[in-house]
Amino acid sequence: MRQKIVAGNWKMNTTLDEGIILVKECLERIDGPADNTKVILVPPFYLLKDAVLLVKGRSSIHVGAQNCYEADSGAFTGEISAPMIRSVGAEYVIVGHSERRKYFGDTDERIARKIDSVLKEGLSPIFCCGEELPARQSDQQENVVENQIRKALYHLNGDQLQRVIIAYEPVWAIGTGQTASPQQAQDMHAFIRDLLARLFTQEIADEITILYGGSCKPSNAEELFAQKDVDGGLIGGASLNANDFSAIVKEL
Ligand code: 13P
Repeated sequence: MRQKIVAGNWKMNTTLDEGIILVKECLERIDGPADNTKVILVPPFYLLKDAVLLVKGRSSIHVGAQNCYEADSGAFTGEISAPMIRSVGAEYVIVGHSERRKYFGDTDERIARKIDSVLKEGLSPIFCCGEELPARQSDQQENVVENQIRKALYHLNGDQLQRVIIAYEPVWAIGTGQTASPQQAQDMHAFIRDLLARLFTQEIADEITILYGGSCKPSNAEELFAQKDVDGGLIGGASLNANDFSAIVKEL
């Protein structure tokens, strides 16, 4: 049975004190979650260790990082590697977020190398894909997403792919308040699953968790998560408010 997940990507928000308060508030408000569901908190790097210590004892709540560099160590000033992330006890790494692609030059090729480095460390990548508005307007969204998935994931073997979480995040829906409709989300998630069945096997495709991200909030989470191929959400803005985030978790 597919794992259901809600992950909160805090992006570049919260100071240390604010972040610790937010983790504690999330822990107070999230009960459970239910069997086969998982919550992943994804704060900035400097909060990872505190977050890992705070969630100890809550077996369904985990911690992830927002990015990593592809090399394990070396002269890469300002970067953080997968072994460093593992060393503080985080278990997940977001790779290929559209903000990394847009502002920090993460190419499909680099994203593939980052995924390799995350998997090599025994961590799980949360791989983001999604089209920009012009592609959606010209009905090219499936081509864009297929290309991103082929370049980032096709080189993996089946065992490796099973450790990947996919997040479909249409760029036009991120931080805009303009959510994809449940049908648009379902159509793309079904397309992704079908693509994975073609590239790997149907069994693997059926087991992969595919999250939706982009202006997901308490008011629309229920309808989005009710879609057959939507296995939860990658939440940006609403993850910075523990009431909103826990309300979204309840919709899983
Ligand atoms: P918003 O929920 O703020 O639209 O952000 C989504 C996102 O980018 C999560 O990674």
